[in-house]
Amino acid sequence: FFQAVASPPSSNFLLLGPSGAGKTAFTTLLEAKSSPASKKSQSTHTSQQSTLVTVSLPPDVPTASNRYRSVNDPSLKEAARNPIKYRVRDTPGHGKLRVSQGLSELQAMAQSKDIKTRLRGVVFMVDTAALVGEATLRDTATYLHDVLLVLQKRAKNGSSSKRTSEIPVLVAANKQDLFTALPPGSVKEKLEAEIDRIRKSKNKGLLDASADSTLDDDEEILGNDDLESFSFKLLEHEVGVKVEVVGGAVKGDQQEEYGSGVRRWEEWIGMCL
Ligand code: GTP
Ligand code: MG
Repeated sequence: FFQAVASPPSSNFLLLGPSGAGKTAFTTLLEAKSSPASKKSQSTHTSQQSTLVTVSLPPDVPTASNRYRSVNDPSLKEAARNPIKYRVRDTPGHGKLRVSQGLSELQAMAQSKDIKTRLRGVVFMVDTAALVGEATLRDTATYLHDVLLVLQKRAKNGSSSKRTSEIPVLVAANKQDLFTALPPGSVKEKLEAEIDRIRKSKNKGLLDASADSTLDDDEEILGNDDLESFSFKLLEHEVGVKVEVVGGAVKGDQQEEYGSGVRRWEEWIGMCL
């Protein structure tokens, strides 16, 4: 009985984000940490196909169900012997493959009622050194905007009382090891401001279209239709979808100065389990 509770066999996480963010590098690192014996090739290249891997949570990372356990708890030893496993789907971030792969997989997984494919969370990875470029910022924010819109539609179709079942998003602010990297706080500000711009121009487009009376019912604005500027807080408040921005680095895992490597992302994943 305890074992069944301790290791949910089918907790799925979807890894999204633009090309070059470090998604495959992250997936490879998680795999290597899960089975240190099998040394996989560490070199990555632009992905063209999604892959699904099963990895395990380090035993000392707490989960939502065991966060109150003490260090002397015997279940800690049990966890070391029998780590909690979860699945990560790495997707290609290239602009031309996003809609057909990342976004449509998100749509399918978000709608699925099947426990086997139930989506626990979305990890949206960004290259925080590349985000200083205007084109990269726009591209990244557009992708994130589309992801959040899928989750908003799902939330609005479900019963409004079940807020806890909304799929949370982790914006993994990667490459904190680079000295040109933006700190997570300014990554958050930049993404919010850019999403606000995207949503305002979309809103304006919709208003123009409705004057032609060709308004598509399916079109929706992220957050609310008010003039209030967009923020992740607003989205959580209005829709119930939680977005958290957490810094880290795939390179230099465990190093305190690089946002503790991937540790804080694993902690976020643990809280979804
Ligand atoms: P697509 O498959 O095209 O969507 O890209 P991806 O998100 O899978 O990126 P990938 O994992 O291939 O990483 C792109 C490059 O970033 C590789 O050269 C990685 O080694 C590098 N990289 C990944 N994480 C880090 C990091 O934390 N720091 C630094 N400095 N480089 C990183
Ligand atoms: Mg890749």
